[in-house]
Amino acid sequence: MKRVVIDTDAGVDDSIAIAYASRFPDVTIELITTVSGNVPVSEVTQNVLYLRGILGVNSPVFSGAGAPRSRELVTAPEVHGEDGVGGYRKSEGISFRGWETGGAASEIVRAARKYGRKLTIISLGPMTNIAQAVMLDAAAIKGIGNVVQMGGVFSGYGNTSLFTEFNIFVDPESASFVLESGVKVTFVPLDLTETLFLPRELANELLMKINESSPDLAQLFRKALNYYIDYHKRNDKLDGCFLHDAIAVAAAIHPEWFRFIGSSVSVETQGKLTAGMTLADFRKKAGRESSRIAVAFDGVRFMTDLSRRVFGYRVGTSTVSQKCLRERFVADFRNHLR
Ligand code: RIB
Ligand code: CA
Repeated sequence: MKRVVIDTDAGVDDSIAIAYASRFPDVTIELITTVSGNVPVSEVTQNVLYLRGILGVNSPVFSGAGAPRSRELVTAPEVHGEDGVGGYRKSEGISFRGWETGGAASEIVRAARKYGRKLTIISLGPMTNIAQAVMLDAAAIKGIGNVVQMGGVFSGYGNTSLFTEFNIFVDPESASFVLESGVKVTFVPLDLTETLFLPRELANELLMKINESSPDLAQLFRKALNYYIDYHKRNDKLDGCFLHDAIAVAAAIHPEWFRFIGSSVSVETQGKLTAGMTLADFRKKAGRESSRIAVAFDGVRFMTDLSRRVFGYRVGTSTVSQKCLRERFVADFRNHLR
């Protein structure tokens, strides 16, 4: 049995990731904690509470940090909608009251103390809650099996400021604090997650497949995914969307689908233009292989598995190869010589 804690800023791709993680019989989601990122933590928490209900998951949910460690919160409603799920929850008038506010960090520590090496923390948002948990009990967090962080970008452009990825950009101080505390982090960066996408046409085909069995999930994902894809169409000229967080879940549950390299990773926190930048010394000059970076994965295996588990329909390997894989642009000045 693999035991995981999911820390999330749900978020459309987070919602797909949580649904994916919930569909592994040999995985127990011991705890879901929420953090401000894509949208404020109050919206994230309502999304998780709603998703938990329609997925039939009984994991405890605790809300966490409403703001980054030491800077103003930056959210992404243009990407995920004001409510974090493409406006679906607002349009349906779905809201929850009376959940336990706070407690995320202490609950993460409780799970770490209880399960130790058997536990994996899957962090899908800014690292604010993770840093608070390290502050409470660094030894407990260092003593777990793995911290898998969707985040960072190590070659090429980012998705927030020029060279930064959103989760680290929102709270670079927390990311830096966790790394400087000696916690081993496995990064699943944009370099990898942007090499695969879910085309709109395929997304809508898959949604038809679950419409009968899970109409609530189909309605949620239909509105959320199409909003999220519309953003990618405007911003990335891509009629589809990235599944960043679901790939991080796969890296935690099926690491054998991935290739990792060890490296020190540092986070820039001071730069006016570079705060949130993740720096890996692949030449190993720093000597500390304190982290791992996922640099390749079997995208076909991932996508066929995700489609089967979440949508109940296994997309064919040739369809994935032809329609879901892509080259990622890396800033190479020689490109401009042509
Ligand atoms: O940069 C992508 C990451 O930022 C994803 O986790 C997305 O949900 C946002 O949190
Ligand atoms: Ca996320």
